[in-house]
Amino acid sequence: MNIKNFVRKEVFDLTIREYAPKDDSNGKKADLSLNINPYGVSKNVLEALKKMDKSKINHYYPENHELMGEISLYLNIPKENIIIGDGCDGCLHLIANTFIEAGDEVIIPTPTFHRYEFHTKLLGGVCKFIPMDNFELSAEKILNSVSDKTKIIFLCNPNNPTGMAIDPKIKEEIIKKFKGIVVVDEALADVTDVNGSLLLKKYDNLIVVRSFSKTFGLASLRIGYIVAHTDIANQIKKTTSPFQVNGIAQELALIALKDKEHIKLSKEYIQENRKKLINGLELLGLKCTPSLTSNFLVDISPLHSNSKELVNELKNNGIYVTDASIFRLPKDTYIRVAISNEKENSLFMEEMRKLTSELRK
Ligand SMILES: Cc1ncc(COP(=O)(O)O)c(C=O)c1O
Repeated sequence: MNIKNFVRKEVFDLTIREYAPKDDSNGKKADLSLNINPYGVSKNVLEALKKMDKSKINHYYPENHELMGEISLYLNIPKENIIIGDGCDGCLHLIANTFIEAGDEVIIPTPTFHRYEFHTKLLGGVCKFIPMDNFELSAEKILNSVSDKTKIIFLCNPNNPTGMAIDPKIKEEIIKKFKGIVVVDEALADVTDVNGSLLLKKYDNLIVVRSFSKTFGLASLRIGYIVAHTDIANQIKKTTSPFQVNGIAQELALIALKDKEHIKLSKEYIQENRKKLINGLELLGLKCTPSLTSNFLVDISPLHSNSKELVNELKNNGIYVTDASIFRLPKDTYIRVAISNEKENSLFMEEMRKLTSELRK
């Protein structure tokens, strides 16, 4: 059998990517590649998990209206505009599946999160990558790239990998002037004041996606949500599966969202540790992006000419960071650092100091 004759072309053209290599834990001392909540999971969530009513596992259709109500209060938007999905990534899949047809164009400002490209290509869509200038978005540049085939503009706010937020005026100008759909990925927004959902009152072409994986610390439970204008939400709802989102994840997301103290302490922990790391790296002469979140970019060019090689050197010493070339950057000298706990952050800094003094000898 020649598999190529059976598989969809879009699938054939993709490559398998290994996200969690099996041999990875050997000698690992610090992992600053994960981009999760370094403060950890809310104690209330862990308690609830222990006490969870076992009958809930043996159940279908776990639609949790209390969770939707709590999200509606959290973002100050009506419940009807919310769709729960299996992670922000699952939400991106629902959106792409609802709107993207073969040959449609989407605009993706770069550098950014790689999954917009994946979901677009899987459906035969075409990605137009628009490089940002100095990591800042230009409404003019984005809007000038629109053609009559452009269906979606994906914006990541705050952006992964830079951690920088989009200027609200620039974001609004794009939503206002673009005749298609603007998807704003706010997976990293909960540690900031960013709340794009408030614009839903003014614009009917906006979709916001959010996650419980980051500030709420529930990454492996796979839960996130879409917030969209009723006309859009009603179309996406048709594509959802009644079996998609697990009930335990919804129960625990509700508890995480209600634990305001955990959210506050997580924000403080991230702010404090980000400041320490960035100060430390800048003292070594390395420029970092002015992040508002738990991740940021470091330009390693004073130290090394290739991010992949530096990442491997660090890995050989048990320190894990991300080679930022996966984010479509203009040069190969960036690493992405995602804040870990204080102990691991110090081990990373220790290694960076060592490398700096060795490489500058
Ligand atoms: C910007 C951004 N969007 C979405 C996701 C995926 O989030 P989730 O775990 O909710 O699927 C990530 C994960 O790293 C991310 O950084």
